[in-house]
Amino acid sequence: MKYLAIAVSLLMAGSVVSAQDAANPEAANTAKAQAAIKDLGQSLRGALVAKMQSEGPVAAVNFCHDEAPLIASQVAERHQVQIGRTADRHRSPSNAPSEWQQSVLAGFAAKVAEGNPAAGITTARTVEVNGQARFRFAQSIPTEAPCLACHGDNVAAPIKAEIDKHYPNDSATGFKEGDLRGMFWVEFPMMSGAAPLSQNPPDARAPIVMSDAQRESLRHEMRGRMETLQGVTSALAAGDWVEVAKRAEVGTRGQHVGVEFRSALPQAWFAMARPMHGEFAAIQREAEGQKRVEVALQHLANAGQYCTSCHATFRPVTPSELAVAQQ
Ligand code: HEC
Ligand code: HEC
Repeated sequence: MKYLAIAVSLLMAGSVVSAQDAANPEAANTAKAQAAIKDLGQSLRGALVAKMQSEGPVAAVNFCHDEAPLIASQVAERHQVQIGRTADRHRSPSNAPSEWQQSVLAGFAAKVAEGNPAAGITTARTVEVNGQARFRFAQSIPTEAPCLACHGDNVAAPIKAEIDKHYPNDSATGFKEGDLRGMFWVEFPMMSGAAPLSQNPPDARAPIVMSDAQRESLRHEMRGRMETLQGVTSALAAGDWVEVAKRAEVGTRGQHVGVEFRSALPQAWFAMARPMHGEFAAIQREAEGQKRVEVALQHLANAGQYCTSCHATFRPVTPSELAVAQQ
């Protein structure tokens, strides 16, 4: 019954999210950081409350030991951030503060020492790590009454024993209600404006240098390929073999629209382009011959493989783009 009371009060005690001291110009970064912290706070609290209610605080200690790091890594994955909890006086050695976290904790402690409440203090920083702008955000964690069962002055003997079993170097007891218990921290690559470019995966495609005009011709030809793919598919679905043959024929050869660009292309290009033309030729033959849908579809699927293979292999760049990239 006593444990149920602790669990219920844990559930009731809300975590305060405020942007008191968020000296951050980029609201989007702060919002992302706060969403991740809110998720972590609620997930941890929810899991802890459920365990306290069902099995009591001794089992909950064990559960925190096994599950708290797991929950943090799930939240990190969900929000694509690094995230965790830390404190000067910590229970788990893996929650020990890093250098920047230590300095933030010191700042938070100074605020509390000045008489500010331990809840809802936040701070945001931008740092450059290996040439990449990274956003760091932290939010204070106050000690609430139900936390005292495991972090207070008089931790009950069976709970204390369970804590000592898992954390022989525990220093996270002796807190009073309203004390600064620690903080949540989040770190991720800074998002600039609406487009989080830095979140794109690296581009491993081989560059092909061509002029703007050549690239425009290539793109024009490619849009024609898309029309061919769509035209053949629709004609097949409609059972219109005359149309299938007509559309497939266009796919058997280059279109040569606009300026010449073949001379810019490497040999490996034609190793994918030629067999693609061959697949369209096979579709045309099938349409003019045996008219088997499954055979035509197989050739269409093969052609599509060459489209996607080439798209995954090459990336046209214009001389001006190359100059920018090399700066
Ligand atoms: C059932 C016991 C229990 C209760 C209740 C509890 N904690 Fe903890 N707390 C733990 C354990 C165990 C850890 C270590 C988790 C780990 O291994 O990551 C921990 C870790 C923490 C940490 C991470 C830093 C550190 O010391 O390792 C913070 C911050 C924290 N607790 C705050 C709170 C707050 C705030 C409350 C109340 C809302 C609370 N705890 C309630 C058991 C508890
Ligand atoms: C041998 C290489 C190769 C093959 C085969 C190929 N493509 Fe492309 N395609 C490219 C490259 C390279 C680009 C990128 C052009 C750019 O970004 O300037 C491209 C771009 C495109 C585009 C975008 C055009 C635009 O306006 O930006 C479409 C659509 C397209 N391809 C469709 C297809 C389809 C459909 C097929 C198969 C039927 C196909 N491609 C086969 C190399 C290929």
